[in-house]
Amino acid sequence: MLLRRLYRAALPLGVRRLLAEARLRRLVRRGRLAHLHEHYPHYDVSAAQIEEDVEEALINGMGYARDVAALLGRATSPWPNLAGLSVLEIGPGLTIGSLLVCAAAGAETAALDAFPVRWRREYHASFYPRFVEAAQRRWPELNWSLAARLARAEGGDADAVVRVIAADLACASSMQEAVAERGFDAIVSNAALEHVSDMSQAARQLARLTRLGGVGVHLVDFRQHCDPDRPLEFLAMPDERFDRLFARRQGREGNRVRASELAGMFAQAGFDVRRVDVLDRADPHYVERLRPKMQPRFAHLDIADLLTLSARFKLKRSGNGGPGEAAAGAGAAQGGRSG
Ligand SMILES: C[S@@+](CC[C@H](N)C(=O)[O-])C[C@H]1O[C@@H](n2cnc3c(N)ncnc32)[C@H](O)[C@@H]1O
Repeated sequence: MLLRRLYRAALPLGVRRLLAEARLRRLVRRGRLAHLHEHYPHYDVSAAQIEEDVEEALINGMGYARDVAALLGRATSPWPNLAGLSVLEIGPGLTIGSLLVCAAAGAETAALDAFPVRWRREYHASFYPRFVEAAQRRWPELNWSLAARLARAEGGDADAVVRVIAADLACASSMQEAVAERGFDAIVSNAALEHVSDMSQAARQLARLTRLGGVGVHLVDFRQHCDPDRPLEFLAMPDERFDRLFARRQGREGNRVRASELAGMFAQAGFDVRRVDVLDRADPHYVERLRPKMQPRFAHLDIADLLTLSARFKLKRSGNGGPGEAAAGAGAAQGGRSG
């Protein structure tokens, strides 16, 4: 007890957290813990942060719902009509708030995450009731009953109201075991695809899970995640060093796949790449300074590709995939860019 008090008094919070993380990692390495969630080792549970997260989930969720409705030729206003559609979100993260907006617009929903986040009272017992309040205030015409059920559920993990599939999108065998069915009408993701280890494989899994004519909306962040001011340093890392870092951090750094490559992978897997909206770009001076240090396969890329730091991909499942479609997809990516 005394030692614990001395420890607390002597070390600042940040250092104590680092030591705690190192201890957890040791336990994970020795197989005494299943895994440490790299994406959320700590998160802010303050009321102000939760308010911000509620707002973001509502905006993202309405964005998905409108995009999915538009791609499927459904009404988007005054409300997106997702009645009777099935929507799967990949990597929802801390909450399933965005997915609950799609449910309120009429969809059947499910989530798939390699490392599902478990309910934590200090955060989720505040998040969901606030989410429901804000959602009902803003869009009273939609049906918030699923969200309200989750807000009422004591210790309510997301899978109290939607199916949460624990599987690695990049791992065929884990996917085969966890998701037998095919044929979601829409698959969406926000800042999740850059964390999978094998994106070609993940694109094929997405195609397998999407019905013919179904759609995909994926926001992908192409930065190295640890340093927002130097977002492309990982392109200079030797492959072996990068692979070790990527595996150790459950992909948190980002997988280095560039925007045009990703468009090609989607096309190869059987998607028609309808649009690539670039949302954020790097400083061209920074990119040109870094270019000579990049690994050759990145150094040779087109400047537009290197500048792309984040983009939203809109897809339609068109066929069985093949080399011809890869070329068509890469072309669509260039032509369809806006933003
Ligand atoms: C950066 S978080 C994004 C969370 C949320 N979509 C958001 O925008 O806040 C990435 C999410 O993807 C999940 N993820 C990482 N690798 C994955 C994989 N290979 N397959 C499925 N989900 C994965 C993580 O567990 C995490 O929930």
